[in-house]
Amino acid sequence: MTRQFKVDAATAALSLVEQGMKVGLGTGSTAEEFVRVLAPRVAQGLSIIGVPTSERTGILARELGIEISTLDSHPQLDLTVDGTDEIDDRLQLIKGGGAAHLREKIVACASDKLAIIADHTKKVEMLGAFPLPLEVIPFGLTATSIAIEKLCRRDFGLTTALTLRKVAGEPVITDNGNLILDASFGRIPDTKGLANGLSQIPGLVEHGLFIDIADIAFIAGPDGVETISSAPA
Ligand code: A5P
Repeated sequence: MTRQFKVDAATAALSLVEQGMKVGLGTGSTAEEFVRVLAPRVAQGLSIIGVPTSERTGILARELGIEISTLDSHPQLDLTVDGTDEIDDRLQLIKGGGAAHLREKIVACASDKLAIIADHTKKVEMLGAFPLPLEVIPFGLTATSIAIEKLCRRDFGLTTALTLRKVAGEPVITDNGNLILDASFGRIPDTKGLANGLSQIPGLVEHGLFIDIADIAFIAGPDGVETISSAPA
């Protein structure tokens, strides 16, 4: 059922894609559904160039016959369609569950529009139940961790357990050669403040808070597809 909701949300986002667009392609199972629903349109003659946010999305898009390129070749995109790990009704997001949020944020910020697609389980009243992904460079990992914990406690009253993300006992290495720390806050009342604070810490390359970046979201559930838009109705 959840897969069908992801397909429904992905299909809704297709309405934003126009002939000749340069389209950022997100990462994760929902973003992959978008690549899958986009591919038949391309086969039918829709001409677009896809810019993937991860190696794995690029492989899938190429396999399905979508022309892909790089952000360096196309530094200004018309649209990016991506999934999320959490979303609130102000279009604030936590991303990075797939360890791709650094490239996702670069691509999103180079796009005229960021459309988020998600199933209804991603919608929350307050961000933070999903551990916040932090991409950090390997050098000075302990010092960076201490700086993060100190900032969160001192400036935001947040105590957090930082966990080095591992798969099969080995640290996850991002597409950029970095590590991921997951910060469990439970709830993040001051998302903008925390985002700004974390951006000041050297060694922390990018956090997974997306504040004032998404423009529209399609959230699919048993009652249909809800659209949340930042533009006035
Ligand atoms: C990738 O790093 C994340 O930002 C994804 O967008 C997120 O994990 C969503 O993945 P699913 O669509 O598989 O839930």
